[in-house]
Amino acid sequence: MSQLLTVNDKRTKYCGQFRESDVGSRACVMGWVQRARDLGSLIFIDLRDRTGIVQLAFDDNTAREVFDLAFSVRSEFVLCAKGVVRERSSVNDTIPTGHVEIAVDELKILSASQTPPFEIVENSNVKPELRLKHRYLDLRRPDLQQHIIDRAKITRIAREYFADQGFIDIETPNLIAPTPEGARDYLVPSRVHHGKFYALPQSPQLYKQLLMLSGFDRYIQIARCFRDEDLRADRQPEFTQIDLEMSFVTQDDVISVTEGFLKKVFKEFKGIDLELPLLRMTYDEAMNRFGSDKPDLRFGFELTDLSSVLSGCGFKVFAGAIENGGSVRGINIKGGAKFSRKEIDSLTEFVKSYKAKGLAWYKNNAGEVSSSYAKFLTDEENAAVVNTLGIEEGDLALIVADKNKVVFDSLGALRCEVAKRMGLLDPNDYKLLWVTEFPLFEYDEDDGRYYAKHHPFTMPFAEDIEYLTSDPGRVRSIAYDIVINGTEAGGGSIRIHDGEIQNKMFEALGFTPEEAHAKFGFLLEAFKYGTPPHGGLAFGLDRLVTLLLGLEDIRDVIAFPKVQNASELMTKCPSLPDPKALSELAIAVIETEDEE
Ligand code: AMO
Ligand code: AMP
Repeated sequence: MSQLLTVNDKRTKYCGQFRESDVGSRACVMGWVQRARDLGSLIFIDLRDRTGIVQLAFDDNTAREVFDLAFSVRSEFVLCAKGVVRERSSVNDTIPTGHVEIAVDELKILSASQTPPFEIVENSNVKPELRLKHRYLDLRRPDLQQHIIDRAKITRIAREYFADQGFIDIETPNLIAPTPEGARDYLVPSRVHHGKFYALPQSPQLYKQLLMLSGFDRYIQIARCFRDEDLRADRQPEFTQIDLEMSFVTQDDVISVTEGFLKKVFKEFKGIDLELPLLRMTYDEAMNRFGSDKPDLRFGFELTDLSSVLSGCGFKVFAGAIENGGSVRGINIKGGAKFSRKEIDSLTEFVKSYKAKGLAWYKNNAGEVSSSYAKFLTDEENAAVVNTLGIEEGDLALIVADKNKVVFDSLGALRCEVAKRMGLLDPNDYKLLWVTEFPLFEYDEDDGRYYAKHHPFTMPFAEDIEYLTSDPGRVRSIAYDIVINGTEAGGGSIRIHDGEIQNKMFEALGFTPEEAHAKFGFLLEAFKYGTPPHGGLAFGLDRLVTLLLGLEDIRDVIAFPKVQNASELMTKCPSLPDPKALSELAIAVIETEDEE
C-alpha cells in the first residue's frame, strides 16, 4: 500500500546535491530506489532523482519498524526518507555525494514498483523497441534524462538570445491549408466541412512572412513541424524548429544574427569560442570539393575531377561516363592502403546504394601497387591519375564514373563512410560553415519538372531573374544553410516580396495562373498592400541539440520519439479511431493489402 505525503514531508535537497558540508544537518529526500543492498544488520539504499544518487543507511540504531520497512524495498520503489546526514565509513569517489549518507529515521514508501522490464542504468544496451515501449522508464536513465534537460537549456538560450535581439515570439496555427510543393502533409479531417481537410504545418513559413507584412519586423517561434517523410537517424515526422523571420534585411543580416546565437550557445553550453564570421562556401564549391551541400569538414578526402585526364581513355566505364556528359572523380584516402579487398568490396556495396554502378580503386601499399582498373589504362593515363589525386605510398584511391549527380552522391557519402570507419569523426570537433548560392530549382527526372530546391518563396539572384522561365536550371537563389559536421542544422532564405516575381516563380514551377491563384491567392493578394523585403531561417532544434550533445540519433533528444515506420511504440499510435468519430467525419476506411 502506498503511503501518503503530509505537509511535514518537505524535501530539503535533491538527492544528488548532498556534500560533506551537509554533515550533521537533517535531510528529507524523495526519489526512486536505484538499488537496495541488504547486508543482514545493515541495509543501504541508493535513492535516485534527476540530480543523481544519495545513499540511505539503516543499521542497529534504526528503529525496528523503519528497518523492516527498508527491508521490503525493491528497485524503483518511490520513497520519502528523513534522517541526519553523516560521513560515510567507506567513501565512493565515483559519485559527487559519495562522501556522505543519510542515517534514516523516518521512511515512507510512496509507491511500490514491479520489477521493471529493464534495469535503469546509463548507456543501457537494451533493445530500442523495449526501451521505447516503456519510454517513461527509459527516460529515468540518467544519460537520457540529461539529454532532455540539456535540450531545455539550449531552448532557453535560444529564447533569451532572440528576445534580447528584439524578436517577438508569435504562435502560428497548427491547423492550416495543405502545403503544395513541400513534403507530404499530415492531414486532419474537418468534422464541420465533410470531405475537407486541414494540414499540419510543415513549417510556419507563410505565416511568418505574413507577420512581416503586418509589421512585426522580427519574429521567433519554437515551432512544431510535421512532415510525412521517410524517417532516418536525423529525421522525425514531427520535429521542432527555432524559426525566425526579419524585415528590411539582406542575407548578411540574417547570417549575422544567427551566428550571434551560435556563438552564444556554443559558449554557454559547450564552453567553445566560435570564431566569427563562420566560413562560407557556395553550393557549387561544396559539391565539387565534397560531393555534398552539407559537407563535413572535420576531415579531408576531397573530390578530384579526373575527367580531363581520362576522356577518351581505353577503359569504357570511364570514357563512356565522360562522353555521356558525366564525369570521373576520385578521392584519395590518405593511409587507406590498409583497407583489405573485403573492405573495399563492402565500400563498393556502399556506393551502390547511391546508384553508382561500381567503385574503381587503386592502392599503393608500401610501394606495392594493386588496382581494379589500372590494367585498362596506359602507363601515362595511370600516372596522370596518380598525380592528379596525389597518391603516395600508403594511400588508396576510390573512383566513381557516372552522371554527375550519382558521382557526387556516392563519393560525398563515401568520404564520410570511410572517415567513420577510420575513426576520424570526433563529435567534439565542431566544423561549422554556411553553404550559399543554392540553385533555385532542382530538376526531378521522374516527374520531368522543376521543383523549388528550398521553397517557392525564395528570392532568385537579381541577375538570374531573366532566366526564371527560359532556363530555370541556371537560376541561383539567395538561400543559405548552416552546416555543422556534415548535418544541415538549419536553412533559410531571403524571400520574394514582389507579386510579379512570385508569379514568375509559380510559372516556372509549372502552375497555371489559375492554379497559383487557387493555392496562393492570399499571398499574392497580401503582396499588393506594401510588403517589406524580408528573410529568415529555421534551425532544426532536434538536430542542433543532437549535434551539441555529440549524439548520432535524433531520438535521443526527443522525450517521446517515433520509430522508423512513424509509429509510437508506447501508445501504439497511429491507431484505428472510434467508428463513431469516423462517421461524424464522414470518412470510411478502405482496407488495403499492405495493412499490418
Ligand atoms: P527546412 O525545410 O530546411 O526549412 O527546415 C529547417 C530545418 O529543420 C530541420 N528539419 C528536420 N529535423 C528533423 N526532422 C525532420 N523531418 C526535419 N526536416 C527539417 C533541418 C532543417 O535545416 N521554412 C523553412 C525555413 C526558412 O526558410 O526560414 C524550412 O522549413 O535542420
Ligand atoms: P569491370 O570491367 O566491370 O570488371 O570493372 C572494372 C572495375 O571498374 C571494377 O572495380 C568495377 O567496380 C569498376 N567500375 C565499374 N563501373 C564503375 C563506375 N561506374 N565507376 C567506377 N568504377 C566502376
